[in-house]
Amino acid sequence: MIQRHTAASSGSGPSFFGRRVWVTGHRGMLGSAMVRSFENENADLLLTARSELDLTDKTAVMSWMRANRPELVFHIGAKVGGIHANSTLPANFLYENLMIQSNVIDGAYQFGVEKLVFVASNCTYPTNAEQPIQEEALLTGPLDDNIRAYAVSKIAGIEMCRAYRKQHGCNFVSIIPPNLYGPGDNYHPQHSHVVAGILRRAHEAKIASAPEFSVWGDGTPRRELLHVDDLASALKYVMLAPTTHDLYNIGSGHDLQISQIATILAEVTGFEGRIVYDTSKPNGTMRKLLDSSRIRSLGWAPRIDEKSGLRGAYADFLSRHPELARNGLASQ
Ligand SMILES: NC(=O)c1ccc[n+]([C@@H]2O[C@H](COP(=O)([O-])OP(=O)(O)OC[C@H]3O[C@@H](n4cnc5c(N)ncnc54)[C@H](OP(=O)(O)O)[C@@H]3O)[C@@H](O)[C@H]2O)c1
Repeated sequence: MIQRHTAASSGSGPSFFGRRVWVTGHRGMLGSAMVRSFENENADLLLTARSELDLTDKTAVMSWMRANRPELVFHIGAKVGGIHANSTLPANFLYENLMIQSNVIDGAYQFGVEKLVFVASNCTYPTNAEQPIQEEALLTGPLDDNIRAYAVSKIAGIEMCRAYRKQHGCNFVSIIPPNLYGPGDNYHPQHSHVVAGILRRAHEAKIASAPEFSVWGDGTPRRELLHVDDLASALKYVMLAPTTHDLYNIGSGHDLQISQIATILAEVTGFEGRIVYDTSKPNGTMRKLLDSSRIRSLGWAPRIDEKSGLRGAYADFLSRHPELARNGLASQ
């Protein structure tokens, strides 16, 4: 386990000063953003890589918690993937996430964790939910078939936090973000999310001097994007705020058409050809804009606009994947 003491003054009001803070999944995209965000806090960060602590292993999780006694938990670690991975490995998504959540959430109760923030996903909302989607829309309709197993696992996590609040008085809060992007994203050709997938294809087309690159669907669906650093700041805000609800949407508050996202990414990567839309591929859900007024009323707001955020994401892609930066065609 890595135990990192981060430095800063204690200031006044609630803070992470001297607190034992466990960030699960700290090597992933959001987890690393959380770790970055703690650079100037005086906290005892408890970080467990999968090789040292497999979160699906109940005995190991309980004995780690008994020995390390985290006070605050950001539960971020999960099996995560794009539509392809979700539709081909539904059993893995459901089993692993249920096991991970049950162990971390029940462990947090057993070992008296003061507050736990659980990261769910916007795919937990019904496909026909009224837009912008309010927290009350949860469990009011059918889910997207392609990601149902993952969505059900995340709904179970939200309900588990609710049940432990109700039965045991635990201060466990769930949050729902939209599509994330930023440093540390996964650019795998089959396993990436919307931004990383389009960014990689635009980059490869530029490197190959191709006349065009293609985007799945007709480009009209809309997606709300949030930079991971904004989500990290929101999670910390929720952890320290006197939250009264058990569920908060955390979004940017607006969405873009996939075609607008592709245009920005073509500009960011320097691709000057055409963007074509592959209408033989599914559009997916047409819109999933979150109503984030509940978190806004607590006083949190995002800071990173899409253009500068996507520029930073591309710089991170180039620095982390020099083999792709050179020829754009190597497989990850
Ligand atoms: N990315 C998005 O657009 C998005 C959108 C909505 C919600 N979310 C949620 O946000 C959270 C973080 O997502 P992310 O994109 O940062 O995912 P990610 O990059 O795949 O990171 C997931 C982390 O969880 C760890 N993990 C998975 N299974 C584990 C296990 N059995 N034991 C220990 N560690 C395990 C992974 O470890 P390894 O490093 O060893 O693989 C990784 O560090 C997830 O809960 C996800 O559901 C993400």
